[in-house]
Order: sequence, then structure tokens, then C-alpha cells
Amino acid sequence: MSRKKADEEDLDNEDYEDFEEEGVNESDEIDDATVSGIEVTDLPGVGPAIGKRLAEAGYKSVEAIAVASPGELAAAGSIGETTATKIIKAAREMLDIGFETADLLLERRRSAGRITTSSNALDELFGGGIETQSITEMYGGFRSGKTQIAHQLALNVQLPPEKGGLGGTAIFVDTEGTFRPERLVDMAEAHGVDAAKVLKNVVWARAYNSDHQILLCDQAMEMAAEKNAKLLVVDSVTSHFRAEYTGRGTLAARQQKLNKHLHHLQRGAEINNMAVYITNQVMSRPDAFFGDPTAPVGGHVLAHVPQTRCYLRKSKAERRICRLVDSPNLPEGEAVFTVTKDGIRDV
Ligand SMILES: Nc1ncnc2c1ncn2[C@@H]1O[C@H](COP(=O)(O)OP(=O)(O)O)[C@@H](O)[C@H]1O
Ligand SMILES: [Mg+2]
Repeated sequence: MSRKKADEEDLDNEDYEDFEEEGVNESDEIDDATVSGIEVTDLPGVGPAIGKRLAEAGYKSVEAIAVASPGELAAAGSIGETTATKIIKAAREMLDIGFETADLLLERRRSAGRITTSSNALDELFGGGIETQSITEMYGGFRSGKTQIAHQLALNVQLPPEKGGLGGTAIFVDTEGTFRPERLVDMAEAHGVDAAKVLKNVVWARAYNSDHQILLCDQAMEMAAEKNAKLLVVDSVTSHFRAEYTGRGTLAARQQKLNKHLHHLQRGAEINNMAVYITNQVMSRPDAFFGDPTAPVGGHVLAHVPQTRCYLRKSKAERRICRLVDSPNLPEGEAVFTVTKDGIRDV
């Protein structure tokens, strides 16, 4: 039997199984949380039974399925990997992930939201705030303010649009153990919003190594639609990679893995119309005779994936300077801001 035939048979068998179970689960409502308005059971090959199993495993939206891997989806739905692959492909097609005309792209770009940083100077530099559908990378030295901005965004994303937010929630992947809910409380109080509510709208996970970090980010993208998450923070994106891959020989492997990770983040950002904010601590390279001795970790690969890259540095008297180094549609420039007890502020 040809491979294709075997695949078809696989799908047929599962359709049959699904059909058999149909009716049993009809009354159990599947909690569909979708951005696109397309329901999981609209996907070919997904009947109520498979739909229910997928929903129970957390795949409640077409967006979540579109970014899943065939292996995971197969396990979650008790289906074959071939079927899982077909379902994922259908989900991507339904969400129009592929070629599209420029007018549609423009329409999608116009639906991009922005999250205020709480500093007018910084917002202006970013063309109105941190943008959804793309990655913003903040690189800089220790204590330059990368993590403080992450906290501020986790609060601000929750604000209504007229206050510079997106009325959404935040997911925080913490690799360095520097997330502090107390800081969110400080910032919320300064804003006059209910701190208890703010804390409930931020989900946090500590990533213990690079594989764990990748897994958490994949999970974040899967639950984004359900939780109405409009911000994913990965603070920092490079520390585990740097610690785990040392020496010249392992550099290529590290870059490849990091590259794949970032592409997943980019895709999740687009599908979920969410902002991805990543930080990257610069290392000093005493051996560098040419160029910038404080080059960001991940150099090349990171330079090509994130849409907006910024370099953060400390200046005199608690001032911080943010330099927009690379953006597809914004001019280069600098903004000065400060970190206070209340959060990020203009000087
Ligand atoms: N409660 C606070 N009040 C005022 N400034 C603070 C407060 N918490 C942190 N900061 C400032 O933020 C800095 C740390 O910034 P951070 O974002 O953690 O740096 P990094 O770039 O290493 O992530 C501190 O050095 C301090 O200047
Ligand atoms: Mg930090």
C-alpha cells in the first residue's frame, strides 16, 4: 500500500471512530475561545469527540492548533500523527497563514495594537508603544531597566485602549527569577487600578533550562486566545542558551535552536495578535578589538528575527537611554526615561 493510501485509511478510521462517539458529547459544551471566530470543530477531521478531547487538553481554538506540533496534538486528541498533521495544516489554511496579497497584509497590520510603556518619550520612539504581531527585543547591560519595562507592560496591557492598553492579559516567562509581583502592585497603585485584579491577569512561569523555556512559550501561544493574552514576556530569552552552549563548537547548534524558538514566537505573535517582548543581556567581550565590545548574545540570529531591536543603557542620575537600533518601519532614534517606584516614567 502506498504511503498516501495508508494515510487516507488512517483518517477514515478516525472519522469513523469519531462518528461512533458522536451524540454522546453533543450536550457537553466545548468552551471555544477563538480570535478568528472559527470553531475547532469547523476543522475537517475534527468531530465533537476529538474536539472535546482537544479542548480538554487545552486546544480550545484554531489558533492554538495552528501552532501545535503534530506529536502533541496527536497525543492530546488520541489521533494518529498523520491526522494531526492534516488538522494543523487545515487550521493554518483557515487562518490564512501563507501567501496573501499586500492589501490584506495592510489590513492585518492595521489591526495591530500598541501597549504604552508609561513614558511618552519611549512611546514616541516606538511609534505609539510596543506593537502586537511582532517581537520587540530589548538588549542592554545588567540593571539597565529591561525587566522593569517588562513589569510595566504586564500592567499596561490590561488597561483599556483609551489608556494605552489592549484590555488583555499577560504571560511572563521568567528565566532569571527576577519577576516581582510586588512591583506590579506598586505600579498598579500608582495607576489607581485594583492591584489584586492586575495580579490575576498575569500568569507567570519560571523556566529552568532552554528546553523548558521553549515548552513554556509553546504553551503560552496555545493558551493565548483562551486567556485573551496580548503580551508574552520572555525575560531573558538568551540566558539559558548562553549557559548551556559554551565554547565555539556548540555555537551553531545554539543559534539554530534559538532561531527556531524565535520563529515560533514570531508566528505566535502574528496568529494571536499579541506583543512579544524579549530581553537579552549583553555580555562584555574583552576580546573584541573591533566593533561594539558589548554585543548582544545571539548576535546574528537575534538580529534577524525580532522586528524591533532596542539597546538600553544607564546614564547619569537614574536616567536610562533607549536606542532604537533596528525597525522595519520606524526611524532610528533615542529616548530618555527613568525607573521610579511607580514604574517607567519620563524624566
Ligand atoms: N522599587 C523601585 N523603585 C525605584 N527604582 C527601582 C525599583 N525597583 C527597581 N528599580 C530600578 O530598576 C533597576 C533594575 O532594573 P532591571 O529592569 O531589573 O534591570 P535589567 O536590565 O537587569 O533587567 C534598579 O537598579 C533600580 O534602578
Ligand atoms: Mg532583568
